[in-house]
Parts: sequence; structure tokens; C-alpha cells
Amino acid sequence: MAQLWGGRFTKQTDQMVYDFNASILFDRRLLPQDIRGSRAHATMLAKVGVITEEERDKILNGLDSILQDVTDGNLKITTEYEDVHSFVEANLIDRIGDAGKKLHTGRSRNDQVALDMRLYTRGEISAVEELLQSLMQTLQTLMEENLDTYMPGFTHLQKAQPVSFSHHIGAYMEMFKRDFSRLKDIYTRMNYCPLGAGALAGTTYPLDRDMTAELLGFAGPTLNSMDSVSDRDYLLEYLSALSVIMMHLSRFSEEIILWNSNEYGFIELDDAYSTGSSIMPQKKNPDIAELVRGKTGRVYGALTSMLTTMKGIPLAYNKDMQEDKEMSFDAMDTVKNCLALFTGMISTMKLNKERMAESAMMGFTNATDAADYLVKKGVPFRDAHGIIGRLVLYCIDKKTSIDALSLEELKDIDAHFEEDVYDAISLSTCVEARNTIGAPGHSAMKKVLEINRSYLNSLVIDPA
Ligand code: ARG
Repeated sequence: MAQLWGGRFTKQTDQMVYDFNASILFDRRLLPQDIRGSRAHATMLAKVGVITEEERDKILNGLDSILQDVTDGNLKITTEYEDVHSFVEANLIDRIGDAGKKLHTGRSRNDQVALDMRLYTRGEISAVEELLQSLMQTLQTLMEENLDTYMPGFTHLQKAQPVSFSHHIGAYMEMFKRDFSRLKDIYTRMNYCPLGAGALAGTTYPLDRDMTAELLGFAGPTLNSMDSVSDRDYLLEYLSALSVIMMHLSRFSEEIILWNSNEYGFIELDDAYSTGSSIMPQKKNPDIAELVRGKTGRVYGALTSMLTTMKGIPLAYNKDMQEDKEMSFDAMDTVKNCLALFTGMISTMKLNKERMAESAMMGFTNATDAADYLVKKGVPFRDAHGIIGRLVLYCIDKKTSIDALSLEELKDIDAHFEEDVYDAISLSTCVEARNTIGAPGHSAMKKVLEINRSYLNSLVIDPA
């Protein structure tokens, strides 16, 4: 047990207490952030004259060597230490002696861990921004290539009106654009530095908080020391944004699974992104999509867990807050994996365009257009709706579709039908006639594709 706080104690910590209390097994991933924060703190301490420049240089070199040794596998972060902060300090003192003991001047583990988590989360935000960017690029390509790939659009999972694959994918594009902008918002709000808040009430040392904030790439220092050490809003916001991303990926996965099924047959997932069955030789399963859908639950779980942990905590720091890590890390890892795999999965899948078009022709997806046709011939819409309803019933009975009926049959049902009806209710007309912005018609879609293209070209990833 290498602890930072033995002085006022007369007994050894009980081993179970030590284990229960320790966070090293999960906070060791904060090592790079801890070192980065400590470097900034030491640099600032020298600048304001709390330590000498010589001490600063020893500290900086010592910190760098610790990170290097861990990275190279020459130094292990073990349970001998309570947490990553104790690990770094103990090793620093080991390496450079008394100067190492000065690093913690004007600092508490409370503002230290607040900083580490913020730096870590900030890096995660920019990593997810990048993953979303490449997902959106993949979607944009799919959209550009499939303006003429017609498919049924659904409501209630019943065929409704025909759309294009490009248009359908465009819906997800909008979702991920919103996800990206949510991350940007969170980043802007969270990018303030808690270092210098001390345990809860600041310090008596003349710390230059503007300097450390700037060294660490923050917009400035946080403004209330009690809030600084006990604020995890940014993490809640991030977990919430991750939950929404997962909700989007999960809905998308559900569609991929349906489309890839024998019944739909709209797409075929690449072998590299599918798995087999141990008993049924014919099987090729969409496990990746299923796992993405399934893993959504644990990301929601992290959000719920974190909200629940925070709700009863009085100001300022309480040990409950150590619980901010395991589930959050898990959620962060999960989302990054899901985004990367999902992007690979959809960029390698094959589209069965004929099957999509066939499916769009069946199921009366042109019924609305047939009603609109009658409206253009002077029939009030409500009457037209009734006429087409009867027409659909007739077709169901005859096991055929509206466009397959002869003009005589159509005229028998309503005299307004003329030869031009076939063109008016053809699959391509049904899609292409819809050209208000946001609709699936070519000219509307082209405008959106252009907007998306310049959006993608101007995306800026926030620095980690
Ligand atoms: N391991 C702790 C955490 O993750 C670090 C802060 C400890 N602070 C304290 N006062 N015990 O929250």
C-alpha cells in the first residue's frame, strides 16, 4: 500500500478497505492526462516562484520518464498504489527525490482528478468527432451513388410511399450531423480548467490559473473552486450525447438487420462483417449490427448510473465521484468501437437494387400518387382517397397492382382515369415528382447533397 496520506493515522488500512477504496485498476488509463496536468502545474509553479526552475526541470524530466517507461512496458501500474495520482507522485519522488515532493504544492487530488477526467473526456470528444466525420463521409458517398435506387419508404413498418436509398440514408445523415453539433456544443461548454481549485477552496499560493488553463488548451479557468472539483456535468452531457449516437446507430442497425434478412433482401452484408452459425451451415448472421443495437443498452446504463450517482452529492468533492470512471470509460470505448465497425459494415455492404425497386412497386406505394392524379383531374381529395381505396381492394382481390390494371378496368372504377395515369403513378414519377426541399426527388436531393458536401468540407475537429 503506497498511500499519500498516512500521517494522521495510527493503524494500517484494512486490506478490504484499501481494495474497496482504490481506483488504480481503472484510473490508470488517465496516466497521460495526469502527467500532462502535472507538467502544466509544475511549469506554472516555477513561473510564480513557488519552485525553482531547476526543480521544475527535474519534475518535468521525471514525469516524462515515468510516462515513457510505462509506454515502453518497463514500468507497471500496480495495485500497490491507491490511484494513478499516487502512482505518479511515488514514482516521481523515487526518481528525483525532494523536488518530487514539491509537485503537489497548491494542488489536491480533487482538482487533479477533475482535470484528468476533463482532459480525458475532451480527447474522447474529438476522437468521436473524427469517427462521426468518417461515418458521415461514408453516408454522403452512399447518398451520391443512390439517387436512382428506389425503395419503399415505410410507416408502421408497412410500405407507405416510394423513396430512394439516397433519401433514406439522408435521414441518418441528418441525425449524425446533429450528433456532431451536440459534441461541439459540449466541447465549448466544458473546455474550462479546474486546476487550481485545490481541495475545494482554492489555495493561498499565488497560482496563475490562466497560465495552466492556457498551457492545457482550455479557454480559461473555471470560476468557482467548489464547483470545479465537484462538477461532472460535462460527463453527463457527453454520456447523453453518446446515448443519442447509440440510439441512432441502433435504429440504423435494426434496419440493416431487416434489409439483410431473406424476407427483405435489400442488402447483403460483406462476409468480413458477418458471422456464421455453429450448427446451421447456411447461416450468415448480421452480428455486428445486432451487437451495436445490443450495446446501446450499456451506454444508456452509464448515463443512468452517472445521473443517479450525482443526484445526492453535497458540495464539494465526495468519494462517490470516483464512480464516474468505470461505466463512463466503458461507454466511451463502446461507442468508438461501434462507430468504427458500423462505418466499415455499411461501406462494404452490397445493395440489391432490383429487389428494392421490385419491393417499392409492390404494396401500393403509389396509391397516394394515384389519388393525387384524380385530384389533378378535378376530383376532391377526400373522394379520390375513397376511390383509390376501393381500387386497392380490387387489386388485392385480383392479386395485382394499380399500374398493372388495364385502362378499361381503371375507368370502370372511375371515369377520370386516362392513359397518362401510368406515367403519373410510375415508380420514378412517384419519387421524382417530390421536389420540395427535404423530399426524395432528384433536384431536391441534389441541393441537399451540395449542402452536405460543403458541410463535410468545412468540418473542424476540436483539438484533444
Ligand atoms: N480516485 C479519486 C477519484 O477518482 C481521486 C480523488 C481522491 N480525492 C480524495 N479526496 N480522496 O475521484
